[in-house]
Amino acid sequence: MSNLKGKVVFVTGAGGGLGKAIAVAFGKEGASVVAADIKEEFLTGTVQAVKEQGGKVISVVVDVTNYDSVKAALKETVETFGRLDISINNAGVVGIGSIEEITPDEWDRVMTVNAKGVFVCTKAAVEIMKPQKEGAIINTASIAGKMGMAHLSHYVASKFAVIGFTNSIAKEVAMDGITVNAICPGIVGTGMWRGEGGVADRWKLEGETEEQSWERNKKALIPQGVDQSPQDIADAVIFIAQAKHITGQAIAIDGGMTM
Ligand SMILES: NC(=O)c1ccc[n+]([C@@H]2O[C@H](COP(=O)([O-])OP(=O)(O)OC[C@H]3O[C@@H](n4cnc5c(N)ncnc54)[C@H](O)[C@@H]3O)[C@@H](O)[C@H]2O)c1
Repeated sequence: MSNLKGKVVFVTGAGGGLGKAIAVAFGKEGASVVAADIKEEFLTGTVQAVKEQGGKVISVVVDVTNYDSVKAALKETVETFGRLDISINNAGVVGIGSIEEITPDEWDRVMTVNAKGVFVCTKAAVEIMKPQKEGAIINTASIAGKMGMAHLSHYVASKFAVIGFTNSIAKEVAMDGITVNAICPGIVGTGMWRGEGGVADRWKLEGETEEQSWERNKKALIPQGVDQSPQDIADAVIFIAQAKHITGQAIAIDGGMTM
């Protein structure tokens, strides 16, 4: 029987590619899932998918950049399922542009969701987990938290921040029975990479289609030559959430990109 049966997990960005796969994976393991995202309509598919796996699930609207909003979402979590065992702080936004193109407002937008959002969600989760003397927090960083990438400087800065913050809080709460880790997904063909305005689109060479750019970039960047699926990322999260002796780590699921 899975160690996750009956555990209560809060997942932000659960309406999107990775968050949805993570929510569904926990549902499959028998956990009670709180699927959170900025808009209720983003969560319809996730709720349905978790239910199809036989999992217990509620949807909660949350803005991860707002402490009161996150506190209210976690209050609803505890009121509904009795506790909070695992918090997957996964919501994020990408920004693409050269240093000349990135405005101070755009810098703030990316840093606020990706870095402040992880701080706010971790702070609110620790407040519940400390008295329980138990919990697991997993923050979604990125390969962009381990290496510089041209035209993604504010995104990269936000993900380096996530890893530094994760390492620090892991030390702070190590004696409280709480593990705090980051995951660093490689290249996953969600809305961040694919489609108009995604990274593949922005990194097109002259005359190249978005599809050709996607194929070229993933072959050039990933030693194993293949992209990661949302399920690959969810599998790693399921493992880390149960690993009592793994804390303060930034674990890459990236086909060797950051080796
Ligand atoms: N796709 C990749 O290749 C890749 C690689 C490395 C890291 N990541 C990271 O994985 C995470 C998930 O990304 P994804 O690829 O699934 O992208 P996605 O755009 O499909 O999902 C992101 C989700 O976050 C939500 N969100 C955005 N701002 C929010 C806010 N203020 N409050 C609550 N929810 C908010 C969005 O509504 C969306 O559902 C992000 O942190 C991203 O940076 C993705």
